[in-house]
Amino acid sequence: MEKILKGYYATRIYLPLSGLSRKWRRFSKCLMNKESKLLQQVNLPEVSWKDCTSKRIIKIWENEQANGNVRISELGVINMIAADCEDGTNLFEIGTFDGRTLLNLAFSSPSNCSLYTLDLLPTMDTHFSLAPGERHMVEKKMPGERFEKYQKSANSIVNKIHQLFGDSASFDFSPYKNSCSLVFVDGSHAYEYVKSDTYTAMDMIKRGGVIIWHDYGIWEGVTKALEEIESNEKYGLKNIKGTSLVYWKNEK
Ligand SMILES: C[S@@+](CC[C@H](N)C(=O)[O-])C[C@H]1O[C@@H](n2cnc3c(N)ncnc32)[C@H](O)[C@@H]1O
Repeated sequence: MEKILKGYYATRIYLPLSGLSRKWRRFSKCLMNKESKLLQQVNLPEVSWKDCTSKRIIKIWENEQANGNVRISELGVINMIAADCEDGTNLFEIGTFDGRTLLNLAFSSPSNCSLYTLDLLPTMDTHFSLAPGERHMVEKKMPGERFEKYQKSANSIVNKIHQLFGDSASFDFSPYKNSCSLVFVDGSHAYEYVKSDTYTAMDMIKRGGVIIWHDYGIWEGVTKALEEIESNEKYGLKNIKGTSLVYWKNEK
């Protein structure tokens, strides 16, 4: 019951309020002619979360948000989209961090789905430079530390998860080609990485599958890369209203 209440709060209360607050902060910065590194002007068209999922009620696990995690409203929407995934398909996350979102995806997706999550270990070399200010998300003891406490109580859920380690610009994603019903792009926020991770996601997504990006309008590299890709490719990327998520469904 408590988890459903959190899901309700996330999508029906937190989401509209945080959307309004973001709009107000952008508007007031504009009025004062101030530039904010943490809140850019955004140009992708918006879509309501209700047009991205057939679900209206969802549970949320791991309420507590660490610096690097998605907002609770975003978690609610992502969980609903995961619940719509086709059973038996793959879900792929680029950027594990502490595993909060992936754990939620594992609980929310159909029982025979397999979940893959890739993260960079602090000792690994990178193909491109990381964005300034994001190294702290790489420098952690172990990606996916939130999985641990569910090993006993929710073993069948944790067993759906497969952790992978490597740099997303040089990792071999070929085993996952056209197999994923959901790809969550949330790795490095550097422009070059977002571009490369986006084309990787496009390769992994199956027909009818959905790609979600995080931090649009928040990290400059994410905003710039997604707007440039959309302007060149005309995929039809949309910003989920009230969030920093970008949504795209493979309708081909
Ligand atoms: C914003 S955090 C991810 C948050 C997580 N998806 C969540 O929802 O809680 C970014 C993650 O991307 C990882 N990362 C950064 N650069 C990467 C790269 N080049 N390849 C793979 N992972 C990378 C970082 O180590 C970090 O764990």
